[in-house]
Amino acid sequence: MRNNIVPLKQPEKRFFLQRDYALGYLALSIGSQEEEVLGAAFRQAIRSFGGAGRSLLDIGCADGRLTARVAQFFKRLTVFEPNPTLFNHAMARLSRRHQFDGRNSTFPPDHRLLPETYDTAIASHVLYHIERSDWPSFFQAIAQSLRPGGVCITVLWNNLSDAKKYASRTDPTRWLCTSEDLLADRDSLASAGFEIVDLRQFDPVIRAYTTEAARDVTAFLLGPTRPEAPEALALAAEVEQTLLSGGLNNSQTAITVRKR
Ligand SMILES: C[S@@+](CC[C@H](N)C(=O)[O-])C[C@H]1O[C@@H](n2cnc3c(N)ncnc32)[C@H](O)[C@@H]1O
Repeated sequence: MRNNIVPLKQPEKRFFLQRDYALGYLALSIGSQEEEVLGAAFRQAIRSFGGAGRSLLDIGCADGRLTARVAQFFKRLTVFEPNPTLFNHAMARLSRRHQFDGRNSTFPPDHRLLPETYDTAIASHVLYHIERSDWPSFFQAIAQSLRPGGVCITVLWNNLSDAKKYASRTDPTRWLCTSEDLLADRDSLASAGFEIVDLRQFDPVIRAYTTEAARDVTAFLLGPTRPEAPEALALAAEVEQTLLSGGLNNSQTAITVRKR
């Protein structure tokens, strides 16, 4: 077994690199049906569209919980995760069991991946953190890493997601893009040589079972709440209450594309 761990080179201040982001992601994931629903969808896409057998590139794997759901299909895994806390969880979960490259880094990396190495790439809920103007180069880098016929599964929440509606009411620079945006921006995919082979919608619900977890998830979705802003506090209280009562709908769409 070979473990190759490449550390984060430049510490940055973006929210997705912070400990609170990791805490919120973990609290959200524990209280959401997402892991089960997406895990099953990924397995089905890998079976239907090929790509099983050799290697997987998981971009923004967080704590590796979704990677672990599909790892059985692959001999080799490469994961990129810039958040140090989440990367640590991913390492603990994945590195003991698989041939594994763990990169505590954003994708695309500074140095090039081996071209045409991977059968499958997953970028699940990652495009929110990437400037729209960088989408074409993001998908080109993925395409370069895939073998011809390889597939890439991208997941984004869609316009039906209540979680997205709440999140966009705070900082308009965060979380705004949806699967509809990617489908409207076909150039990003087409110019990278991808054709869409499958679209699938899911409606997982996010719940919290303690007020503390509700707070962590709310901070993850809305960003750090400023005590001096009453509207932000009221919004946060509404999200927390929804998480603790019926749960928050997080409708999302998986877009599977194949490299021509
Ligand atoms: C919302 S989480 C999604 C995690 C997981 N893929 C899932 O679907 O549950 C987004 C993750 O992408 C990571 N991320 C942000 N920008 C990235 C980039 N340029 N390359 C790789 N990962 C990135 C964040 O650190 C975060 O862990």
